[in-house]
Amino acid sequence: MKTLIQNCLIDGALQFVLINNECLESVTPFPQEADRIIDLEGKMLIPGMIDLHTHIRDLQQAYKEDWHSASSAALAGGVTTIFDMPNTVPATDTLEHLMEKQHVAACSKVNYGMYGGATPHNLEDLEEMLDEGSISGIKVFLSASSSNEVVADENLLKQICALARKYDKPVLTHCELQDCITEHEKMYHGDAYNSVMYHGAIRNRVCAYKAVELMLRISSEVKNKLMILHVSTEEEMQLVKAYKQTADFPVYAEVTPHHLFLTEDVLKDAGNYGKVNPPLRMMKDTEALMNALLKGYIDTIGSDHAPHGLQEKQKPYREAPSGFPGLETSLPLLLSRHLQQKDIPLDTIIRLTSTNPSQIMQLEKRGKLLPGYYADFAVIDQHAEVVVSAEHFLTKAKYTPFEGFPLQGKVVTTFINGKEHHQKGKAIFHD
Ligand code: DOR
Ligand code: ZN
Repeated sequence: MKTLIQNCLIDGALQFVLINNECLESVTPFPQEADRIIDLEGKMLIPGMIDLHTHIRDLQQAYKEDWHSASSAALAGGVTTIFDMPNTVPATDTLEHLMEKQHVAACSKVNYGMYGGATPHNLEDLEEMLDEGSISGIKVFLSASSSNEVVADENLLKQICALARKYDKPVLTHCELQDCITEHEKMYHGDAYNSVMYHGAIRNRVCAYKAVELMLRISSEVKNKLMILHVSTEEEMQLVKAYKQTADFPVYAEVTPHHLFLTEDVLKDAGNYGKVNPPLRMMKDTEALMNALLKGYIDTIGSDHAPHGLQEKQKPYREAPSGFPGLETSLPLLLSRHLQQKDIPLDTIIRLTSTNPSQIMQLEKRGKLLPGYYADFAVIDQHAEVVVSAEHFLTKAKYTPFEGFPLQGKVVTTFINGKEHHQKGKAIFHD
């Protein structure tokens, strides 16, 4: 079955994209023979987002999110592949738990991968999961954050890194040191501090910096692939930059759209909806991250899609869980920034959301618009003007600190392995 997509805007030129079953066959400025035709009428076509950082929940937390709702949200946000974090209930810390998760994930409408989660006592389980070949990396939390176990022992961290290296897989780290956070918590313990406005002081930037420093030191010894997740401060970025310039091991840096586009100021309106770990920081941090991104020091943008129940988020600050959904907002926020402010080039967005994530995870034939690659695309109506409105989200988590943000550009269709999925009321093709 061959499908010709005509009038696609790719790299600023109108092109014809030929899909042969699951894969892209050619991108040409002239038409090709096909069984059917889809007309994009000049809309943009880009490789779909490969999101290396999502929390899909399901299992005992299906009320927060499940694979059906998360993958529907992914389609709506132009995300064609999702990688799921292991801090689920049960956690993905044994082969048995991994298989349970694989079972519920089978209904996913988008491609997916999974990580194994390190605990203080599961090295052998991690090896079993790596051996079996179905985890894409090892996630390590250096501090508590939504139902996970903390690993802080330096020796154990070294062993985890060595294990990942043996299997040529990355270690993905949540870098905030728990002891450091606990120390800062003592300074803000009274009722007067039971407000999300203190979140950044408690989960202090120093704690993030120390954790990044520790992991970089360990990985420079072990020489494993290290991915520092959600870099949030200027100081972390400077350190990562310095290592990147000299390191003889692969060090990757991820940023999230919220650490790039929001400061803690938004908490005045968003309250706990903007409570996230690591916390939202200051203007000098968003500027440093943007600068680093434009200079090539950031490797990936991950959504850190972290859905929770609305009622949970409406609890007082200390009881409310951290995190908010991101699958439906990440790519639109980035594209809007490109279309409106024009400061992030489109090829940078594609590199950070698709090409690099594919390379880091060694995915075969994904992340580029090349012959033989899987036809995983996002189609964007670049003229549409929309406003972020959580009540219309397909994730179960219907809240966001980006509520009311005006955006230019809208994902209208997402192709997964050659098959198109239209967003509600936006049929744009004819046979
Ligand atoms: O805010 C966060 N939420 N940070 C994390 O590290 C975990 C995540 C979650 O799973 O809710
Ligand atoms: Zn996360």
